[in-house]
Amino acid sequence: MTTGTLIILDHAIALLCAIAWFAAGITMARRQAKPALALLAAALLVTLIRVVPVVVLAGRGWWFVQEKVLLGLPMLAVAAVAATVIAGHRLRSQAMSGQRPEGIDTAGVVALLTAAYAALASFVVTFLIGYPLTLSTALITVAVVLAGALLTVRVLGTPDANDANDANDMNTVEEPDTEPDPDVSRRRFLGVAGGVVVAGAGAAGAGLSVWPADAATDDGGGPGPAPRAAVPVTDLRGPDTPAPGGVRREYVLTAQKTTVRLASGHTVDAWTFDGSVPGPPVTANQGDLIEVKLVNHDIDDGVTLHWHGYDVPCGEDGAPGVTQDVVGPGEEFTYRFRANQVGTYWYHTHQMSHIGVRKGLYGTLVVTSRDRQQAVDDAAPEQLDLTLPVHTFDGTATIAGDAEYVAAPGTAVRLRLINTDSSPHRFALAGTSFRVAAVDGRELVEPGEISRTGLRLPAAGRYDLVFVMPSTSVALALDDAATVWLRPQAGAPDGEASTPDTAAWPDLDLLTYGTPAPVALRGATADRHFTLVLDRGVAMVDGSPAYAQIVNGRAHPSIPDQLVTEGDAVRFTVVNRSLETHPWHLHGHPVLILSRDGKPSSGSPLWVDTFAVRAGEVWEVAFRASNPGIWMNHCHNLPHQHQGMMLRLRYDGVTTPFDGMPMAGSSHGH
Ligand code: C2O
Ligand code: CU
Repeated sequence: MTTGTLIILDHAIALLCAIAWFAAGITMARRQAKPALALLAAALLVTLIRVVPVVVLAGRGWWFVQEKVLLGLPMLAVAAVAATVIAGHRLRSQAMSGQRPEGIDTAGVVALLTAAYAALASFVVTFLIGYPLTLSTALITVAVVLAGALLTVRVLGTPDANDANDANDMNTVEEPDTEPDPDVSRRRFLGVAGGVVVAGAGAAGAGLSVWPADAATDDGGGPGPAPRAAVPVTDLRGPDTPAPGGVRREYVLTAQKTTVRLASGHTVDAWTFDGSVPGPPVTANQGDLIEVKLVNHDIDDGVTLHWHGYDVPCGEDGAPGVTQDVVGPGEEFTYRFRANQVGTYWYHTHQMSHIGVRKGLYGTLVVTSRDRQQAVDDAAPEQLDLTLPVHTFDGTATIAGDAEYVAAPGTAVRLRLINTDSSPHRFALAGTSFRVAAVDGRELVEPGEISRTGLRLPAAGRYDLVFVMPSTSVALALDDAATVWLRPQAGAPDGEASTPDTAAWPDLDLLTYGTPAPVALRGATADRHFTLVLDRGVAMVDGSPAYAQIVNGRAHPSIPDQLVTEGDAVRFTVVNRSLETHPWHLHGHPVLILSRDGKPSSGSPLWVDTFAVRAGEVWEVAFRASNPGIWMNHCHNLPHQHQGMMLRLRYDGVTTPFDGMPMAGSSHGH
């Protein structure tokens, strides 16, 4: 069973458990002893069953169960035992006497309902707080459960009901000395529970104030900040000249609102670069200097340009409030960097990107090696190199460009797939076998030929597919619908590419694809190791509490910075406790995938800038801290990023003059 399924199962059983205890308590309050007894038995059974998914989940990782093992289950166990002891024997004697009791049995009902509160509280803590559990959370939770019990005593123990109870006891109990006076025991309970609530609240308050809550940095087990000269991020800019033999590629990209006509014929109000979606393609040969002047015409929230997956100097990274101020309407900013990396990338605004990118502020960035470019020029007719960004407008995912291309049989075809959306897309290539030559711009080692295989492309990710054009048509399916056709000649029939059931094809697992090759980083012991536990939970977002997307229990900007030193081998363990997919993206560095769910990556070394961590998965990745700066490290489901799932990786000694609050009225920079 996948960890994601176990998490759902655990949620379901936890809810069922709370419901069973409530049902038992309410039924007893309605003085129906037999059904209440049955419900008590059922509640006990579900409580025992609760242990099963927790034990199995614990095997998947402590992160998945910490709050259950340390708080939820012990609290529930104590309450359940107390309820069974207190209510159980009362219900049994009531049931055996065959008479409906005249008054409510306060102690029994309170005991059952307290178990219900404990069951509910353990579910709520899992759901709203998650990992890590803090002492103050634990104390507050126990205090709340006891306060619930107190309140229940108050509500149930009205004078009337009590008098009836007292009268009842006087008449029927033969030896009043051996039975505690219910009034006394109620008072005693009120006193004890009240005391515990007050103590719990006090301790929680104290815990909150002493808890090392606002550590500004996490050093990942490495040395803390060392005294060294501060380097402002504004000094970390790109060179002003191309590498020898390269040329200067100048672009001006104007961000502006435009009405765009979609292929479907619909028009949408888009935010564009130069009036087009995607924006103008930025292309270069390796070694060229890319110089892009960004002009903001009328995007009120402001814009920046982030070169996704391209390891530019930090000052060119386009992170508003960190590497630059946001570019407001009427303003401009010029980016300069050398095209050192070959491959398929993209650019997008990083300001309010959950809106800006969705509305169209993105484009493609493709860098070819000079040799390859020469080959393309020399043999132009036999090459077809298509850059195919997919983007969702109006609820419809569309691939930019034409719906049909002609490629003579024997043509070397390269399809550069780019996912500019916040959720994954599934691609499939029908009518030919192919190779995945590159992932996130980086070439794989000896990728094998595959066919009838689905390709799940994470949000923000890229795959380069290569194949030799056969003499029959080829279809690229997007989310299992044929979307782009390549035909050996104009008008060629669809042929066998027309009807494949691509949805039934298995997905390619990149962790086992291609040929292994030694990578120094793989064996290196990590100088720093950071664990990122991704979940949903209550946290502050934009100054108010929200059901946020959280990392280690917090939301941006209160997640501690990760501190690294230049040269460090850094490791991330990324754990997804939630039920959503989180495409994790570190700026400025490719990461090497080490393992997923404990299974080591066994194919080609896999270097990516974005990896999709699905529900319940645990990924280990590593990278070398070789690009000084302050780098955003976030979920590339951009609404998640906006809801808090973002932090910063900061090199020791690098500072930013920007305040992280780029524009009045808008939120922190993203
Ligand atoms: Cu493509 Cu910070 O993102
Ligand atoms: Cu996410």
